[in-house]
Order: sequence, then structure tokens, then C-alpha cells
Amino acid sequence: MTINALVFDAYGTLYDVQSVAAVTEDAFPGYGDIITQIWRIKQLEYSWLRSLMRRYEDFSVITKEALAYTIRVLGLKHDTATFERIMDKYLHLDLYPDARATLAALKGRKLAILSNGSSNMLEALVKNSGLDRVLDATISIDSRRIFKPAPDVYTLIEARLGVRPAEVLFVSSNPWDACGAKAFGLNVAWIERVTPEAMALACTKSDVVTPLTLFKALRTQMDELGVTPDHRIHALSELPGLVAHS
Ligand code: LAC
Repeated sequence: MTINALVFDAYGTLYDVQSVAAVTEDAFPGYGDIITQIWRIKQLEYSWLRSLMRRYEDFSVITKEALAYTIRVLGLKHDTATFERIMDKYLHLDLYPDARATLAALKGRKLAILSNGSSNMLEALVKNSGLDRVLDATISIDSRRIFKPAPDVYTLIEARLGVRPAEVLFVSSNPWDACGAKAFGLNVAWIERVTPEAMALACTKSDVVTPLTLFKALRTQMDELGVTPDHRIHALSELPGLVAHS
């Protein structure tokens, strides 16, 4: 089956969520890494818990709640201006270095984002990064009022792009998202940015496990969820070669 559309996860796949560390470290010197990691872990946790509790709030609320939790549990005092400055970084995350060239090389196929991000967050992020000029659609799960990896949200791809699951390659670096898309029935390429060898090395090279290393162990290694993505790649730049003959 020809791949007529590539649909990308946003946070962690096209955009580097670790790029908030510069702002968190500037706001709270010495705490940048641990804030960045707890914040992302709680943000995802809250998306799953609110989905299970049927108490949906959009991703901007969840991201704020996760940041408030992180600052509170670390015993840090913050003013509104600092909080807003950190939150604003989520609208200006760095693109991964190979994102633009990869999307340009995939021209001719439908290109879209499917993300937990709220419509407002994603609109700002995509505009600020200039991807609004290369994407055919930016799809938020907002309308379904439940977060990935709920199967219902992946139906938004066909609804918006008019392509069947068999024609779609879904791309995510988040193992839980790659597994959710595969379980739904999409073709899936998982971007393994931290290899098992690099993970093992990170855990042995010093007797202190940094917050980033703990995050890598929790959120970058393939999960045990009973499904396996179709393709395991290491960078967005591998995608044009992967779909060239499809
Ligand atoms: C996204 C993140 C949460 O949906 O993976 O963009």
C-alpha cells in the first residue's frame, strides 16, 4: 500500500521538549534539569489520568498543572511572570535539527501533526516555527476530549486528511504513542533517539543518575505494551528513504 500521508507527533518528535531546560535553568539556577524532567513526566501522567478519570482539560491546562506541581514539590517560590515565561517556551520549542529538511524532502505526500496539544498551543507553536507553511494540517485531539493513546483520537487522521489508516505512516518518538498508533492500525515509525546501548552507558558512566538519565529510562525506551511499531529509526532524516519505494 502506498504511503500517501505522514502524520507526526509534535512534542518530542518534531519539537524538542528538552529545549525548555534553558528557560527553567535561567528561572531556577541549579534546578533546570530536574524541573524539565518532572514537568514532562507529570504532563504526560496527567493526560493519561484525566483521560481515565473522564475529566478532560486541554493540554495547556495540563501543562500548567504539571509545572505548578513540579515547582511546588521542589519547594521553589515563583512569581506569575516567571511561571508565564516558562510556559511561553512551550509555544517556542526548538525544532529537531533535521525536521525542516525532512518535511521538505517529503513534499508531495500529505504532511500533518496529530498531537495532544490544544488547538491554540499547536497553532502558535507551528506558526512560530514556520511549519504552518509546510504542513497540510495540524490536528489537535481536543475535539475528542481524550488524549493519545486512546484509539478514538487516531480516527481524526482519516476524518481530516481523507486517507485510510493503511495509507498513513505515523511517526513518533514517544514509545507509548507509537504503540497506541500501531494498536489502532496505522503504519508506525518509532524514532528511537536513545539506543539501549546509550541508555545502559548513561546508567553506568557515573554512580549518580541525573534527572535526564532517569527521564530517558522512563520515556525513551520501547514499552512492553504488546504491540511493536513497523519501523525503528533513529532520526527524522531517515524517513524519505523509508517511504521512497512505498
Ligand atoms: C504530543 C505529545 C504529548 O501529543 O507526544 O504531541
